[in-house]
Amino acid sequence: MKQSENRWKILAVCLTLTAVLGGCISSEEETQDNEKDMIVVGFSEVGAESDWRVANTESMRNTFVEEDGYELMFEDAKQKQDNQIAAIRNYILQEVDYIVLAPIVETGWDEVLLEAKEAHIPVIVVDRMISVADESLYTAWVGSDFRAEGDMAVEWLEEKLKEQGRENEEIQIVHVQGTEGASAQLGRTAGLEAGLKKHSNWKLAARVMGEFTQAKTYEVILDLLEKGTEMDVIYCENDNSAFGAIQALEEKGVSCGTDGDVMIISFDATRAGLTYCLEGKINLDVECNPLHGPRVASIIAQLEKGEVPDKQWFVSETYFTKENLSQDLIDSREY
Ligand code: AHR
Repeated sequence: MKQSENRWKILAVCLTLTAVLGGCISSEEETQDNEKDMIVVGFSEVGAESDWRVANTESMRNTFVEEDGYELMFEDAKQKQDNQIAAIRNYILQEVDYIVLAPIVETGWDEVLLEAKEAHIPVIVVDRMISVADESLYTAWVGSDFRAEGDMAVEWLEEKLKEQGRENEEIQIVHVQGTEGASAQLGRTAGLEAGLKKHSNWKLAARVMGEFTQAKTYEVILDLLEKGTEMDVIYCENDNSAFGAIQALEEKGVSCGTDGDVMIISFDATRAGLTYCLEGKINLDVECNPLHGPRVASIIAQLEKGEVPDKQWFVSETYFTKENLSQDLIDSREY
């Protein structure tokens, strides 16, 4: 090969390399820029104890997606507050843009939320509430009015007993509580407590812990039935508890629901809960809406624009009985 030809070849190779390397560098810069533009959300979820909780997790996962400019970091705390505290500390270390907390219980958050505040990371609380000495430790909360849900259930029971002419009869109530110290437990329990105080003929036959799960409630109701506990009403603090109670009653041959011996009151109004309601196995299902993903996204959108979101956002809810339900309504619901 002639020397001049060689020189041209070397020049061509150099130009190609420069172009390729240049391309690599600019695409790396682009990736870094994209990453910078993404909003990083660290979400600490309670666990997967109920159908409601699964719907709540899905709502968050479906909202905070890459196509919409989010990177979601997710931790399932498996029902342990310590795991939630560790997750929050990890999100602080990772310098996420927002921390979203679905707290298992109301108390015990002051220290870790102060750390988040000092790191200038806004904390958005969803579903259950928190009780902190300094309200500035969290930016906003969105969830249900659990006390109002309890009151709704009690008002319904008052009306139902009147309708049946049993308003002065002694009514034995079994109360199945959810996770101790969770807002959903505290509010729904407070509603029932008020009902018991108002009606001297309403008797608390037993109070047991159902932990918001079918398995635990099945166990405790079976135990009560074996001990011969009288019961006219089982007040279950969520749908999965109601499923466990019904399972135990059916196993022992005790009828329940609209045509049965034991009334079942439940909360959540998930599709499975409403199906039981339409079948007449659950008498009343008070709604508790888990679709918080878009709500949190709208709070973040406000914060991104420099706006101040409402400190508290109560979701409006209703209740269902066999009378106001239909299969079409159940099918049209998202959870
Ligand atoms: O905090 C909401 C409650 O927690 C729901 O009623 C229940 O199903 C869930 O586990």
